[in-house]
Amino acid sequence: MKGLKFISTGRCVPPKIVTNDDMSRIVDTSDEWIRTRTGIAQRHFSDGESAVDLAVGAARQAMERAQVRPEEIGVCVVATCTPDHAAPSDACLVQAALGIPEDVPCFDLNAGCTGFLYGLETVRGLLSLGSKPYALLIGCEQLSRVLDMTDRSTCVLFGDGAGAAVLGLEEGALWEALLGSRGNWEILWVNGPGPETAAIHMDGQGVYRFAVEAIPSCARTLLERSGLTLDDVDWIVPHQANRRIIETAAKRLHAPIEKFYQNMERYGNTSAASIPIALDEMNEAGLLKRGQRVMCIGFGAGLTWGGALFQW
Ligand code: ACO
Repeated sequence: MKGLKFISTGRCVPPKIVTNDDMSRIVDTSDEWIRTRTGIAQRHFSDGESAVDLAVGAARQAMERAQVRPEEIGVCVVATCTPDHAAPSDACLVQAALGIPEDVPCFDLNAGCTGFLYGLETVRGLLSLGSKPYALLIGCEQLSRVLDMTDRSTCVLFGDGAGAAVLGLEEGALWEALLGSRGNWEILWVNGPGPETAAIHMDGQGVYRFAVEAIPSCARTLLERSGLTLDDVDWIVPHQANRRIIETAAKRLHAPIEKFYQNMERYGNTSAASIPIALDEMNEAGLLKRGQRVMCIGFGAGLTWGGALFQW
């Protein structure tokens, strides 16, 4: 079986930073409430940039770092639930901006906050069917566009950004992945864009209960299938929704919290972009070393969940 290898990563967030204090001037909230309930201190909001601008910025950085040419890309996928348009896809606009040739499938994929994990399995399949060596996978969200800025229970949680990866196939590389879904609209849904309807609706406690079950369950399944134990895993990179979710999941898994990378403090919840942004930060900081085992776990609207266990 061929597993995916991360060749390089990139990220792009809009420069505008909105702190919790800034949010408290918009809705009745406080830095203390947001920090203690979620671990979030600030988020980036677009200020004129489109979602495609963010996706292109992250993708360009990843391609430059990998020194990969557009002709070597065999598939381009953007995982998002907030594309700029229903059509054309963000991925086709990324293709145009980067000069990726016409014989390459480019499309968006919506699996809520689990989108990047769904994207990994999708590009793995498509790469194995094609003849070009690399996939470009981007997680990109412009959630500020669909936030109801009068609803304090949701608008403080989310941010904008994009993370990208250039991936290749390698025979015999460690690769375990799982994806799941459970049709449900009561717990989490996002209306289509448009000034009157745009909003994220969330049953916060329902999401919490789902997430603290999904993370340990995904982790256990991946370990079981790979014959590895938690001690064999160097990093767990979960979807960055909320610190309390990650802490509870870590306890349930009997895993040291230090194994879990967390950066929601700086970005808020960027949905499908959160895992690739985290991987890029870790990569840039030298936290990810070749040969280390990494487990990514996502959960989100759908409901969807997914995990991937691989060697960096
Ligand atoms: N500032 C101040 N007070 C607030 C805020 C806010 N931003 N939001 C809600 N409150 C108030 C509520 O109005 C309520 O007040 P009341 O008691 O007077 O009615 C009180 O805080 C408690 O509200 P709860 O919703 O019960 O708060 P809870 O302790 O459950 O925390 C939270 C809410 C943080 C959303 C929690 O449910 C949670 O962590 N859920 C997980 C949801 C999540 O992380 N979603 C991320 C997106 S989904 C995803 O990525 C898959």
